[in-house]
Amino acid sequence: MRPFIVVFALIFAGSSVATAGDLAAGKKAFAKCRACHAVGPKAKNKVGPILNGILGRPWGAIDGYKYSGGKDGTLLAITATEPKSWDVETLSAYLRKPKDVIPKGRMAFAGMKKDKDIENIIFYLAQFDPDGNEIDPEAALSAIDETSN
Ligand code: HEC
Repeated sequence: MRPFIVVFALIFAGSSVATAGDLAAGKKAFAKCRACHAVGPKAKNKVGPILNGILGRPWGAIDGYKYSGGKDGTLLAITATEPKSWDVETLSAYLRKPKDVIPKGRMAFAGMKKDKDIENIIFYLAQFDPDGNEIDPEAALSAIDETSN
């Protein structure tokens, strides 16, 4: 892992890629999420759904996980009205203040204050493909950019 981080840091040092983050810092910041969410090849749903492959994943896509649904403002009701996928923009807003994005959602988390933490968590999550295997987070993020542009 470490050589990769160093190489990455060298490639992106001084670049203006807004989504480039720090994997180690992202892993550390993800500690706040870990009580409720798992990632990696052995991940299972906990209080919250598995987050493997979350970048580009449609809202509410994990089979067998019971998302908030029914009344207006729940996760399933919002995406039923207008189908949505998680990208950097929606994830950033959701992690900053979950209730701003899904007012009647079930995620009992106040939100993260620091933009840097949010950026690093998104970068950390981008490295897990839908099966929880590690991929190049930068490539995963640019693939999203291309589909949403
Ligand atoms: C106290 C438990 C808890 C914590 C802490 C928590 N979450 Fe959640 N999260 C949930 C629950 C429950 C849901 C389902 C929301 C719903 O159905 O409305 C959820 C949903 C999500 C979703 C949407 C998943 C999907 O399949 O559409 C994402 C993304 C997410 N959380 C990311 C995070 C991240 C990143 C953190 C850490 C910054 C975090 N969560 C912290 C419980 C939590």
